[in-house]
Amino acid sequence: MGSKNKLKRFRENETFDNVFQPTREEMLENLPQKGNWGKEVFKNDNPIILELGCGKGEYTVELAKRFPEKNFIGIDIKGARFWRGAKTAVDSGMKNVAFLRTQIELIEYAFAQGEVSEIWITFPDPQIKYKRTKHRLTNSEFLQRYKRILKEDGIMNLKTDSEFMHGYTLGLLHGEGHEVLYANHHVYKNEGAPAVVTEIQTFYESQYLEQNKAITYIQFRIK
Ligand SMILES: C[S@@+](CC[C@H](N)C(=O)[O-])C[C@H]1O[C@@H](n2cnc3c(N)ncnc32)[C@H](O)[C@@H]1O
Repeated sequence: MGSKNKLKRFRENETFDNVFQPTREEMLENLPQKGNWGKEVFKNDNPIILELGCGKGEYTVELAKRFPEKNFIGIDIKGARFWRGAKTAVDSGMKNVAFLRTQIELIEYAFAQGEVSEIWITFPDPQIKYKRTKHRLTNSEFLQRYKRILKEDGIMNLKTDSEFMHGYTLGLLHGEGHEVLYANHHVYKNEGAPAVVTEIQTFYESQYLEQNKAITYIQFRIK
């Protein structure tokens, strides 16, 4: 994407009521919406579901269409990407969608303990190199961050094309005694994945499918 186009999207994001783009400093002081997303932003008490590393926000928007009685927030550091999802939501008058531009590392500054019902992680960068472990979105430290903002029985969903990420996460879940609710190492070949796993496809997913890569899915609870 050209820098002109990006700038246009950045400017347009600023006009959208459903986009929140705090500075790092503002995050570190705790977002004013923390603990108040339902009351202040969505004007209801419905469950809140996050998509982390949402890119263009396909899961955020498509899940929101299917589940109007739930609220969805896509989170990514790249605002020019989630502009796509934010614009679709604005244009179609969807009231249960928001996007937050921030680093996932800072997520506890945006959500209070137990504020979130469910988290989706969709096609995260696998960060295969050992030195990059700390950036892997399902490492032990990230799981503990998610646990602190999730409700007691909160659900995690990981959908990935990366065999490494799938295996790494399953190993970690078993090793640390978390609860694996469901695992599928080829969702389009092995039946049984929830419908939304095969019905909704992201931008990255469509590229991986063209390469005939297996798409995997794990649903789990953090203990
Ligand atoms: C491979 S892309 C996948 C995007 C989208 N989920 C999809 O499937 O098309 C990974 C996304 O995660 C975002 N991301 C990675 N690490 C992040 C972090 N620590 N904080 C915020 N966003 C992050 C990137 O900006 C990128 O948009």
